[in-house]
Amino acid sequence: MLEKGAPIADPKGRLGVLLVGLGAVTTTLIAGVEAVRQGLAKPVGSLTQMGTVRLGKRTEGRSPLIRDFVPLADLDDLVFGAWDIFEDDAYEAALHSGVLDKELLSQLKAPLSRVKPMPAVFAQEYVKRLNGTNVKRGKTKMDLAEQLVEDIRQFKRRNRCTRLVMVWCASTEVFIKPHPVHRTIDRFERAMRENHRAITPSMIYAYAALTSGVGFANGAPNLTVDIPALTALAEQRSLPVCGKDFKTGQTWMKTMIAPGLKARLLGLRGWYSTNILGNRDGEVLDDPGSFKTKEESKLSVLDYILQPQVYPELYRDFTHLVRINYYPPRGDNKEGWDNIDIFGWLGYPMQIKIDFLCRDSILAAPIVLDLALFMDLAQRAGMRGIQEWLSFYFKSPMCAPELYPEHDLFIQLMKLKNTLRHLRGEELITHLGLEYYD
Ligand SMILES: NC(=O)c1ccc[n+]([C@@H]2O[C@H](COP(=O)([O-])OP(=O)(O)OC[C@H]3O[C@@H](n4cnc5c(N)ncnc54)[C@H](O)[C@@H]3O)[C@@H](O)[C@H]2O)c1
Repeated sequence: MLEKGAPIADPKGRLGVLLVGLGAVTTTLIAGVEAVRQGLAKPVGSLTQMGTVRLGKRTEGRSPLIRDFVPLADLDDLVFGAWDIFEDDAYEAALHSGVLDKELLSQLKAPLSRVKPMPAVFAQEYVKRLNGTNVKRGKTKMDLAEQLVEDIRQFKRRNRCTRLVMVWCASTEVFIKPHPVHRTIDRFERAMRENHRAITPSMIYAYAALTSGVGFANGAPNLTVDIPALTALAEQRSLPVCGKDFKTGQTWMKTMIAPGLKARLLGLRGWYSTNILGNRDGEVLDDPGSFKTKEESKLSVLDYILQPQVYPELYRDFTHLVRINYYPPRGDNKEGWDNIDIFGWLGYPMQIKIDFLCRDSILAAPIVLDLALFMDLAQRAGMRGIQEWLSFYFKSPMCAPELYPEHDLFIQLMKLKNTLRHLRGEELITHLGLEYYD
């Protein structure tokens, strides 16, 4: 286990943030960081920029900003790189995504136009609704990984970065089950040379990152790095990995409300969630293969939080449905409805209705920023393998094979902050509080 208060290397020099996919989320992140650097806006929603951490007893009044408490890279030291199957630079892609106002984007045109996508590793069999021309060619999947390794090497050199981190912000791939070739590094590498179908493009990026000494976070529900071969590779190379699927919109809501129902022992008969969404992500998820990957990620949350095996009278056999409807007029401004049928004292039924008019990429961008900064921190602190303390950011958090994932947002936040306290040699906060009454 990582030693309490062990030394953490300083974040000296530039941190390269390599983003797979230059779509709505990525461009909203890059534009946002640039706007914050220029003093045009505030980094609302980012724990690393605005969050605090309480230290010691409540009577001590010590609550520093997280970024003053742990050594994080400064926003001025971030350099962004990206791959995409389309040739649009970050300015054009941001305009196309339609998330941020044209006026704001025109103020940021120069830095955004400098981010030009490197040719992607892509195959349409994994994302059926897309087809682009900015794509690498290679005889085998291993050849493609080697080309990515070269991209990473050149990016680091050109931008004089001291460290790098990679985050998958590309489209959701079709659902695939874990396969025997995912079990060991050897089998995985052989399968890459043999162009095995179970090796997806996202796995090729993750493999290229890890073999280049770069940690990898997965923002989509694809398996990607959540397979024994790649978690073993991360361990072997002392690199952090985490995933899957950024926890924004409806699932974020679910992981706040479900713990509240369980805390008060209110029963659940059914939870129906439906969305309308009109961005490219919505279009990709309109394909049943990609939707299946997303659906699996969204469905598992309630069972883990409500624990029907522990509370059969309250949570056995509830109905849980999730729908995503591609509806172009809405663009990135998703609307999500939840109808929750609950029951209380003596079994009396009640209902909760939620209508969340959200903005998908506005919710996701600060998550990507935090993940990039925390993954860099983890690497400098010598934390390797699966970073369960970053579950806070994910719909399907990766965890050790013998564990079940922790989904409750408030437990996740406590885990994250206690990890930071542990890293800095501070006492963990248990919320016992009896000592105040002695
Ligand atoms: N925005 C959210 O709230 C949210 C929440 C959870 C997960 N996600 C996931 O984040 C990802 C990005 O979302 P988005 O709204 O930015 O989508 P988007 O469609 O706007 O952008 C994705 C980009 O990835 C590119 N791409 C696809 N395959 C690629 C590959 N193999 N290599 C390089 N580029 C590739 C596409 O061309 C596209 O430009 C999606 O998988 C989405 O499901 C988003």
